[in-house]
Amino acid sequence: MRFSSLARTTMASPFTVHRLHMRGRHRLVNCLNSVQRTFRRSAGTERGAVQTEGTLGEDSGEKDGPKSFYELMADRQEQAEKSVLISCQSRTSEKKFLNFLSKHGDIKKHFFYESYGVYAVVEFACRDNVVSLLESAAIPSVSHESMVPFKSRLLSLRNHSSGESPSLPCQPQTTVPINELIQRLSREESVDEQISSLTEAYQLREENSRLRFLVCSLLKDIAAAYFPECTIKPFGSSVNGFGKLGCDLDMFLDLDTISGKNLKTPKSGLSLEYQMKRTNSERHVTQSILSVIGECVDHFGPGCVGVQKILNARCPLVRFAHQPSGFQCDLTANNRVAMKSTELLYLYGELDPRVRSLVFTIRCWARTHGITSSIPGAWISNFSLTVMVLFFLQKRSPPIIPTLDCLRDLAEQLLTDFFEFYATFPFSRMSLNIRKGKEQNKPEVAPLHIQNPFETSLNVSKNVNSSQLDRFVALCQESAWLLQQSETRTPTGVGGKHTTKPWGLATLLLPSQVAGVKGRKKRKPHHASERIKSLLESLKSKNDGKKNSDS
Ligand code: GTP
Ligand code: MG
Repeated sequence: MRFSSLARTTMASPFTVHRLHMRGRHRLVNCLNSVQRTFRRSAGTERGAVQTEGTLGEDSGEKDGPKSFYELMADRQEQAEKSVLISCQSRTSEKKFLNFLSKHGDIKKHFFYESYGVYAVVEFACRDNVVSLLESAAIPSVSHESMVPFKSRLLSLRNHSSGESPSLPCQPQTTVPINELIQRLSREESVDEQISSLTEAYQLREENSRLRFLVCSLLKDIAAAYFPECTIKPFGSSVNGFGKLGCDLDMFLDLDTISGKNLKTPKSGLSLEYQMKRTNSERHVTQSILSVIGECVDHFGPGCVGVQKILNARCPLVRFAHQPSGFQCDLTANNRVAMKSTELLYLYGELDPRVRSLVFTIRCWARTHGITSSIPGAWISNFSLTVMVLFFLQKRSPPIIPTLDCLRDLAEQLLTDFFEFYATFPFSRMSLNIRKGKEQNKPEVAPLHIQNPFETSLNVSKNVNSSQLDRFVALCQESAWLLQQSETRTPTGVGGKHTTKPWGLATLLLPSQVAGVKGRKKRKPHHASERIKSLLESLKSKNDGKKNSDS
């Protein structure tokens, strides 16, 4: 993460400009402000370590201090407003393409990627350049079809000249396959390097982050037909720092710029106010707005396919695929709490580089073993899992900001300790509370109870059933055990890059031996390592039995 001017972050808090609807939100604002203060303090000492490539905020141009979440969001939104998305033929000359476009103004940044064909994202120096470019674009001539005459910043480049050029250089937008990752990790020399390597392979890159904001900006152009002052902002893993290449794009239609702009009514004299349609609930307003925007996206949105309106969900949304970017999109409205959770996770990720690395590693491990899934269901969500990692980090003793000398050892130790922590956590009795950083008695019967940090009466993991929790615990036990084994703790390569056997983190991503366990066994309150030892014995005897039957 690149940082920019510290002076800028000491400006008026960005939280103060947002209208807060819920009771008790001032407490939430205080809580986030204090996380942000801690972040600023720690960033002063951790700056070198926190600078990793390709996350939100790179290319900011200023590198001498941290930016607030909202400043980063605003910068990315501004870039997106000045950008266009162009479908190109792969064998177009990059030079000719840039010369052609620069007739409309200076190009600040461009890159190519593949998704059902090759696309270019081009950012101009100012919005007028985009207006000029759009004015020069023709309406396609079609003979057998009809078109919706909606003009957007999604264009196609037509090449009327002959001659072949080399393929355009495309930026990868997806992660490496798991087997390739295992190979890559096995070639590293320490678990710490494996964790960094995994984080680097999985995290969203600069380009992918820009593309996400551009898709939001393109959709905003559609929603602006009804609400000219609206914005559409990404939230969740697209911007919380824990996003993996290929993760979905969660978006939030922000109308607060309209309703929040409330002029003071004068105490005397005349004044005017808008007449507005009234309904009996805020939820109903959200549903109506999403229903109409969903129709627009479905009927007029170029490249938007498979639109589903899921308006009766707890959080109403419109789901669709945006083909030119390849993103699975969820559009919500009136979802400020999710935006706050996103900011909270982002700030925690900024506190210490190990937070992000550990979250990436655990998320990847969980996905590999089917603990999490891209389909909603009775399993642990990535959001719940991230809160579980944060809770674990809060429970560390001593607290998590150590000297740099300790970093390397701790990075390895944290992974083992994470698995031990949840292998023995009293899930049947206790709830995780990241506001207080401690467990407390469960307020309701649910296999896994994680208190929502902003709506404290809610359980973030209400959907999780007991067999999914059992699988999680069994896998934590197995992974803790694997990390303690001398043969998996160190590289076992016998020379040559291609003969390296999976070791360390790579072994945790191989198919599990215990993942199929059903039903939770009653656990005695053993000490962690004792329990791990007994698991070790049981796995060993299982393995010996298997070896004997194999031979
Ligand atoms: P992936 O999409 O799986 O990469 O992770 P994600 O963090 O984006 O999760 P998801 O798309 O499921 O949800 C998007 C965001 O909505 C999360 O980051 C949270 O901010 C918020 N969110 C998701 N589930 C819950 C929940 O149960 N309670 C609350 N308060 N917020 C949630
Ligand atoms: Mg998401």
